[in-house]
Amino acid sequence: MYKLHTTCRACGTGNPVLKTLKQSTAAGTVYDLAASLVPVFDLGPMPLANDFCGPDDERAGYAPLKVMLCPNCGLAQLSVVVSPQVLYRNYPYVTSNSATMRKHFADIRYDIGEEAGDFKGVLEIGSNDGTLMLFLQEHGAKCIGIDPATNLTEIANKRGAYSLGTMFDAYSADLIVTTHGKPDVIIGRHVFAHVDNWKSFVRCLELVSAAHTLICLEVPYVIDQLDSVSWDQVYHEHLSYVSVRAVDSLLHGTALRLHKVKHYGIHGGSIMLMLRHRESEEPVNESVAKFIEQENASADRWAAFSIEARRRIDQLASFIRARATEGKMVVGYGASAKSTQWLNACKLHKSEVRFVCDNTPQKQYKTCPGSEIPVADEGALTRELPDYAVCFAWNFAEEIIAKEKIFHDKGGKWVIPVPQIKVL
Ligand code: TYD
Repeated sequence: MYKLHTTCRACGTGNPVLKTLKQSTAAGTVYDLAASLVPVFDLGPMPLANDFCGPDDERAGYAPLKVMLCPNCGLAQLSVVVSPQVLYRNYPYVTSNSATMRKHFADIRYDIGEEAGDFKGVLEIGSNDGTLMLFLQEHGAKCIGIDPATNLTEIANKRGAYSLGTMFDAYSADLIVTTHGKPDVIIGRHVFAHVDNWKSFVRCLELVSAAHTLICLEVPYVIDQLDSVSWDQVYHEHLSYVSVRAVDSLLHGTALRLHKVKHYGIHGGSIMLMLRHRESEEPVNESVAKFIEQENASADRWAAFSIEARRRIDQLASFIRARATEGKMVVGYGASAKSTQWLNACKLHKSEVRFVCDNTPQKQYKTCPGSEIPVADEGALTRELPDYAVCFAWNFAEEIIAKEKIFHDKGGKWVIPVPQIKVL
């Protein structure tokens, strides 16, 4: 189900085959490629965060969940890679169509337009159910999507977002170029951190893009994750915790370079890495150097993160257990991947958290990975009126709290786990 990962996917550190080799970077630093990745955060064996199963489905099981830090380029990455065939076989994660997300789509469309002008041809990698493509098409773009989750590309195609249900690799990149030509813009939202072989991914980007193509990769930003101790974003799908510095190191010696970096509040803090071909005449934006200069994702920071994460896990577990002992009803809101992390790290049971409600049909009436807590529809919150609802979709907390006003008006309390555990 998984393989060990010991070689940094950005700079190659940890590769025993390269023991005697040294690599000089443009900045003149000499990397010892044989140095080992350093463990910085270990959650032990954990279930796969999106393995929501019905009564007849077979669970994928558990895999180690440990973050390792590259001593050279500073990339944090998991110690194992779970097979994508297992992780994405019937993927229930659907791009949110919430107001927060629609506002974000408008923001990124504007920012991409600033660089790419009145762009038309768009390739979206990891296009999910086509939500972003449909938004861009409404604004005149001509999109093609690609995603290995065929259950979602089927939905996308029915909705009018033309999508290929396959992995983005050299073969599909070639097929796209032959049948559709090279796009003006390539977008990969929350897909790059899920990719194991970055070098091959970059080669495929080189293949599918032209000299004028703007490549936009949106990833959760490791500095925001460290700042807010959003440890619940550490799960098997997130193979890397991305910094600008690590991507800069990855791109050395390739046809691509960093062009600009934009920061957004979405998903607890994300960055859009804008890449261009080296032959592009557009000057590198000053944001690239600024981000790299300010980044501090050292082993010490990860050590502090690890201690604080454990403290918060204990805090939430004790809070929920104490309420359950008092006879209070506690539920979860948002069967996010993050909910799986909290429920399992806190070792919570359905006698303590009765259900988790969620608006995704692909998750409803299934049970949560590991904890086996049932997933209910969103309406369950106002039907059952629990005493407490833990907002596991804390990245949408503002919108959810406003939407579920009745719950709060009738005396229900929200528990928000990130960036600080608080009760509202
Ligand atoms: P999200 O934070 O996007 O993802 P992840 O799985 O990466 O942690 O997940 C939010 C979940 O919350 C998703 O399953 C949909 C659900 N949700 C609701 O049920 N109601 C809402 O109003 C919103 C915004 C999300």
